Amino acid sequence: MPAIVVVGAQWGDEGKGKTTDILGTSVDYVVKPNGGNNAGHTVVVAGEKYELKLLPAGILSPNVVPVIGNGVVVNLEALFEEIDALESRGADTSKLRISANAHLVAPYHQTIDKVTERFLGKRAIGTTGRGIGPTYMDKVGRLGIRVQDVFDESILRQKIEGSLRQKNELLVKVYNRRAVTVDEIVEYFMPFVDRLRPYVAETELLLNDALDRGEVVVMEGGQATMLDVDHGTYPFVTSSNPTAGGACVGSGIGPTRINRVIGIVKAYTTRVGAGPFPTELFDDMGEYLQKAGGEFGVNTGRPRRCGWYDAVIARYASRVNGFTDYVLTKLDVLTGIKEIPVCVAYDVDGTRHDEMPVSQTGFHHAKPIYEYFEGWDEDITGARTFEDLPENAQKYVKALEEISGCRMSVIGVGPDREQSIVCHDLLD
Ligand code: GDP
Ligand code: IMO
Ligand code: MG
Repeated sequence: MPAIVVVGAQWGDEGKGKTTDILGTSVDYVVKPNGGNNAGHTVVVAGEKYELKLLPAGILSPNVVPVIGNGVVVNLEALFEEIDALESRGADTSKLRISANAHLVAPYHQTIDKVTERFLGKRAIGTTGRGIGPTYMDKVGRLGIRVQDVFDESILRQKIEGSLRQKNELLVKVYNRRAVTVDEIVEYFMPFVDRLRPYVAETELLLNDALDRGEVVVMEGGQATMLDVDHGTYPFVTSSNPTAGGACVGSGIGPTRINRVIGIVKAYTTRVGAGPFPTELFDDMGEYLQKAGGEFGVNTGRPRRCGWYDAVIARYASRVNGFTDYVLTKLDVLTGIKEIPVCVAYDVDGTRHDEMPVSQTGFHHAKPIYEYFEGWDEDITGARTFEDLPENAQKYVKALEEISGCRMSVIGVGPDREQSIVCHDLLD
């Protein structure tokens, strides 16, 4: 069984963590290929809730080797806080492996993230403030610090010097902040070095060797398609490629080794931070979805903006990722709603668009064209087969399947590991 990619189909928080977790017992490696501690993946095991940020959800399955891939940006302080919190709850984190090529978040990246947002004013992205964008900027700008650099203090010092020469100009002259010294950044990293060493490995080789042995590798993407720096609602995006192609780059696994690309999609839509969102609700219904779905960010605690299911986005995500399967999550949250609207196309300044408008302005102007589906009142949280679902819930899922670009293989009816209906095995 080759590699499997798990990708968010909307604007994040679709339930990627839960999906990786339900694959858990049959999986050997779970690699996080992109993002950093801007993510928040929730897993509920027998009523116990775990919130993972930098670590892949696979860390909760004792048989899984969790891996932080080369495409991730690592905040060492956040990493060890997360490891300590998990260890204190009895999880074993000793198998974790971290790519020597992953980049490190420094305190000045977080400062620049926050101050850039302030300077953007009304045009702010609403980032998580974790320094993710500035760390990726340094990576692409060839001024980054990698995990391997901290093991040689003189190299580390040289790299920090190179980066700070330009950063301090920016911090002092543009942003009116104090300059940062090389010493203070070296001193920030040094206490982590000994603890980090045993985790660091050539993860690209490790993962490909596992695939050669016929083992199962899951790539658990952070963020989502519409937050992708190339394919998302630029500039209201994150700074990595959360789409399926990015998972290859961020883990060192070639595209020919992948046999499943699983899109995770919520039965409605949410978004955190700024940017266009055609089906967003500003009325009581939006508040209802927020409450019923517990739509508050894991990472920053911000309320998530809520709206109806958007099939234009689902088709787009299916296309740019090449989805083989969908996992539809949170169907249970829609229970009790009389009539459920689904966006099937957009009206852009009087013209119908069945697919995503080509321009950003078009997307900002997009008004949803809805089809309406009858709801259901029965509690579905105990459903374990498709036939257990009320007829109207079955019709809703079948309708989504027809218009979303690929089959719905798993349906989520609650947050717990057990609360899933498997229509097609994701590992066969
Ligand atoms: P991720 O970032 O994609 O991993 O998703 P998050 O964990 O940020 O947000 C998804 C939330 O929905 C979490 O609180 C999950 O526990 C919860 N969840 C996942 N699947 C289901 C489901 O089918 N039903 C319900 N009610 N909650 C779910
Ligand atoms: P998971 O993996 C939802 C959003 C932020 C902001 C934009 C850029 O849990 O689905 P950044 O800090 O990355 O520079 O912020 O991206 N964002 C997320 N929204 N879920 C996430 O992760 C997100 N990670 C980043 O809110 O709008
Ligand atoms: Mg999340």
